[in-house]
Amino acid sequence: MAVGEEPVNRFAQRPPVRPAEVPAAASESRAPVQGLAEAAPAAQPAFVTDPGEARGLAATAQTLAELEAIVGAYDGCGLKLRATQLCFADGNPQAQIMLIGEAPGAEEDRQGKPFVGKSGQLLDRMLAAIGLDRTKVYIANTVPWRPPGNRTPTPEELATCLPFLHRQVELVAPKVILTLGGPAMQTVFNTTIGILKMRGRWSELTVGAHGVEAMPTLHPAYLLRNPAAKQQAWRDMLSLRMKLDALGIG
Ligand code: URA
Repeated sequence: MAVGEEPVNRFAQRPPVRPAEVPAAASESRAPVQGLAEAAPAAQPAFVTDPGEARGLAATAQTLAELEAIVGAYDGCGLKLRATQLCFADGNPQAQIMLIGEAPGAEEDRQGKPFVGKSGQLLDRMLAAIGLDRTKVYIANTVPWRPPGNRTPTPEELATCLPFLHRQVELVAPKVILTLGGPAMQTVFNTTIGILKMRGRWSELTVGAHGVEAMPTLHPAYLLRNPAAKQQAWRDMLSLRMKLDALGIG
């Protein structure tokens, strides 16, 4: 009998981790100013997982390579079952600028790297317009596996993967975060406000245990569908350039 939208591999599930067994994540040691608080799980998740398990695993990673291996071995997110491979990050792990998108698409799923399809090509042009390229930024997504049919990740999927994103931000420790599109903004800024209201505004966020200046902008895929919105995106990129200049970031 079909009981959910996603198939559930019960053999891959581990017994639930009791909260007392889960080491507190670095993100919990400080009250977040705002942002990256973990989203409430969906009322009736199709793939039952315990974000506490991801939190405990993420906290053990001391390097990005360790975190990538941990995420790659993690079976608690249903997206992994339908994805070709993990799409963890691209760019420079030492960068002071981190870009966070929504989720890998078809080309990203094939290559295992974020933003390598059409929207990635536009993103590269946007970066180049303000003197940046992938040697100067680090790029990740809110979820590291492609959602089937490129749908938006569910709140449950986002909540499950969020501890990994927290830790990724802590380990990269960027000075500036740029979120791309509404879902990434809502996840990172922990808000339900629409992207068109919040884009272009800077906030100081505490992401995990890491303090950072962050600004949402429009998603390149949205810009491809709505070329008129490139005007707003250009303003955001100029604002990013000014912020980087003020912080002395090349
Ligand atoms: N869109 C995203 O949000 N992320 C990618 O990696 C590619 C497209």
